[in-house]
Amino acid sequence: MSEAILLEVSDLGRDYDRGRVRALHEVSFSAQRGQTLALTGPSGCGKSTLLSLIGLLDRPDRGRVQVDGIDLAGVRRGADFRARRVGFVFQFHHMVPTMTLQENVEAPMLALGVPLAQRRARAAQLLDSMGLGARAGFLPTHVSGGERQRAAVARALVNRPALLLADEPTGNLDSRAGEQVIELLVGHARSQQALLLVATHNPDIAAAMDRRIELLDGRRV
Ligand SMILES: Nc1ncnc2c1ncn2[C@@H]1O[C@H](COP(=O)(O)OP(=O)(O)OP(=O)(O)O)[C@@H](O)[C@H]1O
Ligand SMILES: [Mg+2]
Repeated sequence: MSEAILLEVSDLGRDYDRGRVRALHEVSFSAQRGQTLALTGPSGCGKSTLLSLIGLLDRPDRGRVQVDGIDLAGVRRGADFRARRVGFVFQFHHMVPTMTLQENVEAPMLALGVPLAQRRARAAQLLDSMGLGARAGFLPTHVSGGERQRAAVARALVNRPALLLADEPTGNLDSRAGEQVIELLVGHARSQQALLLVATHNPDIAAAMDRRIELLDGRRV
């Protein structure tokens, strides 16, 4: 594997419902650090399934995913792998409702054993850089949808992941708020030499990425 390749997906397949639903078949591609990649295709074509396998939220039935030369089939502690290497942003923010934005952003650093003072400082600085300094102490239900999603991006970026996976991250936002979220994700990929994969139905977002992987009925087209 060449050194710049971060992700290698080989003949990946996933079935659901005891093989009755073939969600993905024989999908292969590789991608490099610093790249931005759109994952497109109609509803049900397998985008979320593919992101779940790459982020080790799920395991494939066939084929292989390698991240940084590591075959994910050999990774026993998925949570540990995710905490160190993966940032996820979903369509719905999935923030913990009883924790402030600041506490939500601090949380992923616990898994890496970052000391409290550093957790506080890093989360505050990241929220500040996203224009959320004044909102850091608020609960997710007490801020706007755009602010909440930017905080979800901060949480995904806080451990400086090499792999940034976003599944319809702007699905619930107006176009300005959506643009801000995409700018933050792309900015991280560029500045940290991370790989960004965005599943999207939005043609403008797809066009803004370096490359596009298109799926139809679980296959690449
Ligand atoms: N847990 C599950 N059990 C059974 N079938 C599933 C499950 N998750 C997804 N599927 C099926 O697998 C296929 C791919 O679904 P997936 O969620 O990956 O599509 P998608 O491209 O993300 O769609 P959307 O654009 O609507 O989010 C679909 O046919 C879907 O119905
Ligand atoms: Mg989906």
